[in-house]
Amino acid sequence: MSEGAMSTEKVAGVDSAAAPLGAPLVEMRNIRIAFGGVHAVEGVTVDLRAGEVVGLVGGNGAGKSTLMRALSGAHPPDGGEILIDGQVASITNPRDAKALGIETIYQTLALADNIDAAGNMFLGRELKTRTGSLDDDAMESATRKVIGRLNPRFKAFKRPVMSLSGGQRQSVAIARAVHFNARILIMDEPTAALGPAETAQVRTLVKQLKDDGIGIFLISHDIHDVFDLSDRISVMLHGKLVGTVRKADVTTDEVLAMIIMGKLPSEVSEKDLAELHR
Ligand SMILES: Nc1ncnc2c1ncn2[C@@H]1O[C@H](COP(=O)(O)OP(=O)(O)O)[C@@H](O)[C@H]1O
Ligand SMILES: [Mg+2]
Repeated sequence: MSEGAMSTEKVAGVDSAAAPLGAPLVEMRNIRIAFGGVHAVEGVTVDLRAGEVVGLVGGNGAGKSTLMRALSGAHPPDGGEILIDGQVASITNPRDAKALGIETIYQTLALADNIDAAGNMFLGRELKTRTGSLDDDAMESATRKVIGRLNPRFKAFKRPVMSLSGGQRQSVAIARAVHFNARILIMDEPTAALGPAETAQVRTLVKQLKDDGIGIFLISHDIHDVFDLSDRISVMLHGKLVGTVRKADVTTDEVLAMIIMGKLPSEVSEKDLAELHR
């Protein structure tokens, strides 16, 4: 456990009713990223707590993926700061991010097609026996344990992942992240390539991860995914943050108005809402 978490617990122990909530798992403050003259992300501030799903939405090119690439270490920001557990973190490459428990699940999953679930779970981090040979039994049993908990219907342990459905492949990728102690998951359009049954499977998986206390940034163009899964929704437009709302406080139309018009629910008129449906 980190020092930050310990001290928060001490404070909570003194007077838990009056104690401030613990520091967010992630705070991204005033993040700026430019590509030449294109301001892909312009002073965006978002945060994420343990066991929370924050939906990140906005039209094509709004800057969602670029913002998350700053968190995953794939593209360090030009400005702003990232705090993990309340501490300023230096995330300059994907390895730094992984060391902080940050994992990304991409739409096009990086799995090795011709090997099975256990092979993928432990790819590059294989378990060995005392004599130094691969411990296939240990890897398979650990894989069955993690995937079995996340997705009890998963049975295809012995098949190359190439033959698995999109939802099953996501189960393998997420199990891999969870087994190696991910606390923060970035899911960039996880259901974009999936059919309805598969989408339902991924939604169940997200709820399970949330119950496990993992914090999730969920990028999705599917407003139904976002409404089903998110606790809060952060909306981006042209590289800027329009605002962050609690799902319980808004309607889908109000979120659509944020996405399309860049207006907060308090700024939206009846006429604006009617415009959305023309
Ligand atoms: N590697 C890159 N080089 C140049 N421009 C980029 C690059 N990645 C993203 N962009 C630009 O940054 C903006 C935001 O893109 P992106 O973050 O992919 O948006 P979103 O994920 O919301 O669709 C777009 O204008 C896009 O063209
Ligand atoms: Mg994107």
